[in-house]
Amino acid sequence: MPTLKTAEPGSFSTIMGIGAYRAENLVTNDDIAGPINSSDEWIRQRTGIITRRRASKDVGVLDMCEEAALEAIASSGLKPEDIGGIIISTVTFEYFTPSAAAALTDRLGTGHIPAWDISAACAGYCYGIGQADALVRSGAMDNVLVIGAEKLSEVIDPEDRSISFILGDGAGAVVVSSSDEPGISKTVWGSKGENWSTIRMTESLYDVRDDRDTPFPTLRQDGPTVFRWAVWDGAEVAKEALAESGIEASDLAAFIPHQANMRIIDELAKQLKLPEHVVIARDIADNGNTSSASIPLATERLLREQPELSGGFALQIGFGAGLVFGAQVIRLP
Ligand SMILES: CC(C)(COP(=O)(O)OP(=O)(O)OC[C@H]1O[C@@H](n2cnc3c(N)ncnc32)[C@H](O)[C@@H]1OP(=O)(O)O)[C@@H](O)C(=O)NCCC(=O)NCCS
Repeated sequence: MPTLKTAEPGSFSTIMGIGAYRAENLVTNDDIAGPINSSDEWIRQRTGIITRRRASKDVGVLDMCEEAALEAIASSGLKPEDIGGIIISTVTFEYFTPSAAAALTDRLGTGHIPAWDISAACAGYCYGIGQADALVRSGAMDNVLVIGAEKLSEVIDPEDRSISFILGDGAGAVVVSSSDEPGISKTVWGSKGENWSTIRMTESLYDVRDDRDTPFPTLRQDGPTVFRWAVWDGAEVAKEALAESGIEASDLAAFIPHQANMRIIDELAKQLKLPEHVVIARDIADNGNTSSASIPLATERLLREQPELSGGFALQIGFGAGLVFGAQVIRLP
């Protein structure tokens, strides 16, 4: 039997550069509290959110991806033609198919590279990093663009009290490249399908097609169930990711959890017993919950405001609709 030729196993992988698109419209709690009979005080107290950012009507998911991607590629010292693959995590691209990622190759001028979208909601960025790490280490690709991008304002119901008030728009992008030193630890990821409907769309698109009186689908969640799951299971997943990375909490420079709720962030940090020096990302206060974009956006902000964190280790964890989760330790670009 002849032996099949495979990709030559690659080197380690690391995050080289990062970019962000922050939506242009600042939305305060007072702007949205009326239709849900809520208040600035209640929203601040229960979620830590003071403002969220939402994109204008004419800005789509692809526009956000393009801006974040160009910044990430430039900050990696690369050109679009150096990118070997594009992974976009999004649940709000306007089309089932074709993918946002395939369209982005054309906008960026990368050439005819592999490009695909993943649907893993708020865990999607960590799933994308896990995929990119595996692709680089397997030798399949040298530079993979990973993007989390969401226009959640398109799937909110202003009268919904369960989730709409926490959501914002944005995109964050990184380039995962081959490296002599390990820069991404083993990804700890999984799903809990028995809780599939805990965060969900109100209707399927086919329901809307078949009954024109059915309102356009918007997001809903069982908030308290999500809260308990994120805190209890999330802490275990984060601890496992740290254990798999071979470093201790004291070796971390930063903790960058999905920006879902400030109380969840605080509770996770408490359960992880993070030392004082570990900087905790709290981008949610100003930018709300941007699902798969929240971790790269929070990372970009930390690095902009505290450039001394560059080169340090960060524990990141995403969790959300599915329910799904993913976590790893990365070396900050
Ligand atoms: C959504 C969330 C903020 C609600 O907060 P909570 O403290 O769990 O609130 P509860 O649903 O238990 O409701 C508590 C009270 O607040 C009221 N309430 C619920 N939502 C409200 C809102 N948006 N505004 C004002 N009052 C609200 C309820 O009616 C209830 O009133 P009562 O005590 O008089 O009955 C919280 O559950 C949460 O953040 N969950 C996690 C969500 C998340 O992170 N999702 C994204 C994951 S990717």
